[in-house]
Amino acid sequence: MEKAEVVELLNQDLSGEIEAILVYMRNAIVSGDEACKAARELEEIALDEMRHAEWLSELIVELGGRPSMTHRELDFGGDSPKDFVRRVVELEKEAIAQYREHISAIDIPEVRERLEHILREEEWHLEEFEEMLEDM
Ligand SMILES: [Fe+2]
Ligand SMILES: [Fe+2]
Repeated sequence: MEKAEVVELLNQDLSGEIEAILVYMRNAIVSGDEACKAARELEEIALDEMRHAEWLSELIVELGGRPSMTHRELDFGGDSPKDFVRRVVELEKEAIAQYREHISAIDIPEVRERLEHILREEEWHLEEFEEMLEDM
């Protein structure tokens, strides 16, 4: 796979991370006191997503590319904290599927290792959010 193609895949991953950061931050703030535990968890996991965005951007620059910093139109879920958590469960599932696909497509060991690390954290996020949803 050409470096430019790897950059393209990493930019897709970066878009997902930016989307997650924005959706989690917004939903944390809107949840407020009404769902304090969900708000704190969303905020905390948004920080992980920020670290992922930074790692991906660094890899993109190392490969001679430029982080595109774009994202899809944002979908925050419905209008209750439970809707918000349902939405972030969907986003984590999408991220996991995409990282798995990209890990099997990319043959640069350093990039794969970093994506595998991110994938493990996304799997942990999904568990956290699914548990939270059960308790709501
Ligand atoms: Fe992430
Ligand atoms: Fe995540």
